[in-house]
Amino acid sequence: MRNFTYYNPTTILFGKGSIAEMNTLLPMDLKIMILAGGGSIKSNGVYNQTRAALSGYSTVEFWGIPPNPEYEICMKAVAKVKEEKVDFLLAVGGGSVLDAAKFIAAAARYEGVDPWDMMGDRSSIKPALPIGSILTLPATGSEANGNAVISRKQFSQKLALSSPSLWPQFAVLDPETTFSLPDRQTINGIVDAFVHVAEQYLTHDVNTPLQDRQAEGILLTLIEEAPKVLSEPGNYDARANIMWSATNALNTLIGCGVVQDWATHMIGHELTVIHGLDHARTLAIVLPSLLRFQKEHKLGKLAQYGRRVWGLNGPDDLVADAAVNKTEEFFRETGIKTKFSEYGIDAESCLIAGERITTRMGPIGERGNLTKEAIETILKNSQ
Ligand code: NZQ
Ligand code: ZN
Repeated sequence: MRNFTYYNPTTILFGKGSIAEMNTLLPMDLKIMILAGGGSIKSNGVYNQTRAALSGYSTVEFWGIPPNPEYEICMKAVAKVKEEKVDFLLAVGGGSVLDAAKFIAAAARYEGVDPWDMMGDRSSIKPALPIGSILTLPATGSEANGNAVISRKQFSQKLALSSPSLWPQFAVLDPETTFSLPDRQTINGIVDAFVHVAEQYLTHDVNTPLQDRQAEGILLTLIEEAPKVLSEPGNYDARANIMWSATNALNTLIGCGVVQDWATHMIGHELTVIHGLDHARTLAIVLPSLLRFQKEHKLGKLAQYGRRVWGLNGPDDLVADAAVNKTEEFFRETGIKTKFSEYGIDAESCLIAGERITTRMGPIGERGNLTKEAIETILKNSQ
């Protein structure tokens, strides 16, 4: 096992009615900014529950954070944070609202010229306002990690920021808030969580049997619960199991001491920049093709995954192939597409992703073998 630091300061309040208990975690003397997206929290009752829980607190609101949160909009929120002398940010919504809150939290305390200069930095501790969240879309794990992914259209960039100071102090997870999700977002969430596990598990073995089994447990749960939640959107237990799986997929626990990949995500972010595809949709296009391309390097783990998660038997080589096919079938059964052509997109229009990524950070993947040309091949093979 590799050396690691395990850091997790996020208190989780999980279950029906948990929004009402949020005030146990919030001192009364804070000035709180509620951050929200386009209005789903108004139509599903989460906003009213939030207001009731914050009764007696001093609050301001900032609405309109879009999916793939945009720098310009975040900067408007930063101006309001400063003007209103806000001390605490409460993100109410999906991963985009959470990520925006993290960027705003750091940008409000940033002392340099342009907070965008923080992007791409995945190490240092940055001064930031404290944040908390009420999560309404299980997918990103952003509710219990220190990562934020922000887009800047002006530069055609979607980049990540990561810092221990950006972990939410708390996350309220009430599965009932997810009953109102459109199928598209439910599916996106399941696929995103699945790929988060794949990025940390499908690499090569460094003797981490516990983390492997934790990862396999999440994958098996997602595979079992996905059909339930899609056929019965009001199934509380299935919603709860998906929600807790998504948090555990990217709260850093399964990533402790293991070799990680993240190439599918890096390529996927570029596809969102180029074609505006939802985050999870990009992953469903890239992952199967990337796993096939990397089969030689990932063989042991792919075979283990095939046997333990999909119940396959046979020689490693064949089990690995079948495991990738099963993964793609699972994605397709949830209703997500796995090829560019199904979106009417020509893979050629995406090849620039290879150059953009490798110019910024060199070859990617856990073996550092995904060059510009390799990324282009992975994309072409997903046509
Ligand atoms: O804006 P509103 O009106 O709230 O509607 C949202 C949005 O349109 C809607 N929605 C959310 N909860 C709902 C709901 N609609 C009905 N009922 C509910 N309960 O869903 C739409 C999508 O929301 P969004 O927050 O964009 O989705 P998601 O949670 O999938 O977040 C995606 C973003 O997170 C980033 C992605 O790149 C993308 O920008 N990621 C963040 C990560 C992290 N911080 O660790 C890791 C991920 O890999 C990912 O990169
Ligand atoms: Zn993701």
